[in-house]
Amino acid sequence: MSEFQEQLQQYVDAAERFLNQQFVWEPAPQKTLLDSMRYSLLAGGKRLRPVLTMEFCRAAGGDWQKAVPFGCALEMIHTYSLIHDDLPCMDNDDFRRGRPTNHKVYGEAMAVLAGDALLTAAFETAAAADAAPAVLAKNVAILAGCAGARGMVGGQVLDLEGENRPLEADYIHQLQQMKTGALLRAACLMGVTTAGGSPEMVQAAAEYADGVGLAFQIRDDILDVIGDAEKLGKATGMDEHKNTFVRLYGVDRCQKMVEEETDRAVAALSVFPTPEFLRDLAHWLVRRDH
Ligand code: IPE
Ligand code: IPE
Ligand code: MG
Ligand code: MG
Ligand code: MG
Repeated sequence: MSEFQEQLQQYVDAAERFLNQQFVWEPAPQKTLLDSMRYSLLAGGKRLRPVLTMEFCRAAGGDWQKAVPFGCALEMIHTYSLIHDDLPCMDNDDFRRGRPTNHKVYGEAMAVLAGDALLTAAFETAAAADAAPAVLAKNVAILAGCAGARGMVGGQVLDLEGENRPLEADYIHQLQQMKTGALLRAACLMGVTTAGGSPEMVQAAAEYADGVGLAFQIRDDILDVIGDAEKLGKATGMDEHKNTFVRLYGVDRCQKMVEEETDRAVAALSVFPTPEFLRDLAHWLVRRDH
């Protein structure tokens, strides 16, 4: 295993351990809800957002273990966004993370409630982290801002309303920045905040997140066309009615955009003394197949 892969595995393991300890209360008359939350939360997934939070904390001079609860809080928000994204009233998907979607197993009402509870639990988790009050306040504000109407939820609205709109680069750019870029930005910024990093580091983290965020969603849209459903753990060919760069420009030009955005992200890292992991992570995502 390369040094990069070893570090990645260490972060993923830390996230899995933390998440696995959540929602196991006894007695629990609402056990179905807890089962449904854990079903989606513990179904695998790349854990990219917690990995970014931990590594930005380390890169900015902090102890990455302190960032685990913040990264995992964000993973709860991300998982809720996927449960709701898959509902029949949204993307109407049957598979996610290699298993039937939450509503296919627990029904739509429970899937809505599992999402609600994961979103709320994220704030409980972040607020309970072992960090200075100023760090807690800042990270909770970052989480709320990026998840809500200005961020992911707002982006999901543009995604849905985009289904009946002409393809326009500016519109797609904005919808991607909001629906996907915002949570990745939260991941990076919370890492720097947890470490008490400088304003220059905050700025660099935001620029890196912007580049990686766009590249990540464009690659997601490419994989909907050329990807393997088994490897992806979700169905392909679902985006034919969506407002995406792939529909506007085609796969080849979009893969070039993924590379350009990644270069832009990596260029922002120069303020960090040891940016190698973040560079390798960005490059790994360019060719990801899941
Ligand atoms: C999927 O996110 C939804 C998008 C924002 C494109 P990921 O590709 O990070 O999904 P998991 O967490 O690995 O399942
Ligand atoms: C999802 O975008 C972004 C979210 C905020 C959940 P997609 O709808 O393209 O994600 P997948 O392809 O279903 O994972
Ligand atoms: Mg969607
Ligand atoms: Mg979807
Ligand atoms: Mg997609």
